[in-house]
Amino acid sequence: MADKSNILDRYTTGARLNHWINAILMICLVLSGMALFHPSLFFLTDLFGGGSMARIVHPWIGVLAMLSFLGLFIRFWRYNLWTRDDSAWMRSVKHVVSGDEAKVPEAGKYNAGQKLVFWLMSILTILLLTSGLAMWDSQFGEYTTIEQKRLAVVVHAAAAVLLLIVVITHIYAAIWIRGTIRGMTRGSVTGGWAWRHHRKWLREEVGKTK
Ligand code: HEM
Repeated sequence: MADKSNILDRYTTGARLNHWINAILMICLVLSGMALFHPSLFFLTDLFGGGSMARIVHPWIGVLAMLSFLGLFIRFWRYNLWTRDDSAWMRSVKHVVSGDEAKVPEAGKYNAGQKLVFWLMSILTILLLTSGLAMWDSQFGEYTTIEQKRLAVVVHAAAAVLLLIVVITHIYAAIWIRGTIRGMTRGSVTGGWAWRHHRKWLREEVGKTK
């Protein structure tokens, strides 16, 4: 809802808590995962109380991270549905990169780039979870064959690297578009930010208050 001081609500406290819990869990997940990924990164196991502890806690952190992502998915999936305007936005993405956003079709609550990030996060999260469960011998060892476990190891590593790239892109975009971070910290954005980056959403929000 928009108010008189030119500030718009963008995220509820619940959504922000959910997001930051997810971000913290994902950072712990990446650190514990990298610690197990390559001998040169083994020193990271110190953060989790040594090699055995890192191996034990990594899948549990994974389950919590996936559950918290499910919370984000349930909150946001409907705002990330793809429309024809998004395809047009994608075709003119070069103007976004060159900082000439006025030449790009107006975006709703999320632009096409954000939607792409959202769906990539969702697909990669499912792949990480299913391959992770298939490799979790202490809990589900008897349910998968050796061949399935071998495939799961490859899928798990590939999905983890891709998700890391997507998350780094997400963080970079949040910092690059000035005024975005406050949406996820304070829950609100300025009217100027919304006019510049999410004009269709601004029109909808202003329409609601009339
Ligand atoms: C330090 C790390 C992170 C920062 C600084 C950050 C920042 C942000 C910001 C500023 C927004 C609001 C964007 C807007 O309103 O236009 C946002 C939304 C979101 N973030 Fe993050 N984020 C981080 C980590 C993560 C991680 C690890 C995930 C999940 C893997 C994630 C998933 C999401 C989702 C799903 C949304 C809603 C966007 C949508 O539905 O398209 N974030 N983030």
